[in-house]
Amino acid sequence: MTASAGPGPGDRFDLTDRVVLVTGGSRGLGRAMALGFADAGAHVIVASRKIDACLEVADEIESRGRQALAVAVNVSHWDELDGLVERAYEHFGRVDVLVNNAGMSLLYGDLADVGEAMWDKVVGLNLKGPFRLTALLAPRMMADGGGSVINVSSTGSIRPAPFMLPYDAAKAGLNALTVGFAHAYGPSVRVNCIMAGPFFTDVSMEWDLEAFDVAAKQRHALGRGGEPDEVVGAALYFASDASSYTTGSVLRVDGGIP
Ligand SMILES: NC(=O)c1ccc[n+]([C@@H]2O[C@H](COP(=O)([O-])OP(=O)(O)OC[C@H]3O[C@@H](n4cnc5c(N)ncnc54)[C@H](OP(=O)(O)O)[C@@H]3O)[C@@H](O)[C@H]2O)c1
Repeated sequence: MTASAGPGPGDRFDLTDRVVLVTGGSRGLGRAMALGFADAGAHVIVASRKIDACLEVADEIESRGRQALAVAVNVSHWDELDGLVERAYEHFGRVDVLVNNAGMSLLYGDLADVGEAMWDKVVGLNLKGPFRLTALLAPRMMADGGGSVINVSSTGSIRPAPFMLPYDAAKAGLNALTVGFAHAYGPSVRVNCIMAGPFFTDVSMEWDLEAFDVAAKQRHALGRGGEPDEVVGAALYFASDASSYTTGSVLRVDGGIP
């Protein structure tokens, strides 16, 4: 058998000099992905509400020999998203990959206790913000020859729980945006989604970890929750040419929840 021509697997995942914008890049899965992109050669824009936390990740990225830009932004506020895009283009002149990762749920007792402000906050961050940021950035990616958008939803989007219903509904909406945007901005911009299962980030501080461990061992194929850096492989796949024939796809990265 002769060796095939063309790039090897390593080359297909290469992100040298691509510019990646990660919302919620300061902590948890976003931070892990931001560092993973930098290790694959990308320059990274780290965006979240707290600038000091973004600057820390930006420093780590620069210490790995890449360029980084930290931007303070509340993703649910559309007027702030215009500023984020401006900063990104002023600094780098392009954005090749957008990761709509910033997200959170809020705790409530009874569904009737979910007030309009709580609903707006959760849906604003998990659905409204990603919609607007994609609508702002994808046409510019198209004009520059193409790009990749990666949404981060949750397995709750297909297994909605009464105690997280606004969040799960917003994440189900994000799955739908993934397919719709893939058609809107294809073929040059691909849009995919990582449907995350339970990962040990700051959100897991709210969990009963003993009960989680028992349930995971009994029911999840891998028997455990994920570490943040275990999302990086899927993110590199969607960000890079490795996924050149994949768009509108929603990939479960959840340790095998039934
Ligand atoms: N961990 C899990 O088990 C799990 C499961 C399923 C899905 N997910 C999803 O995975 C994504 C990452 O979750 P994670 O566990 O890494 O969360 P995390 O550790 O709580 O980090 C959340 C990130 O989002 C930023 N953020 C929060 N609100 C924001 C806002 N309004 N505007 C801009 N940035 C904001 C935070 O920074 P600031 O505080 O500085 O704003 C932080 O960087 C989320 O979309 C989440 O829904 C996580």
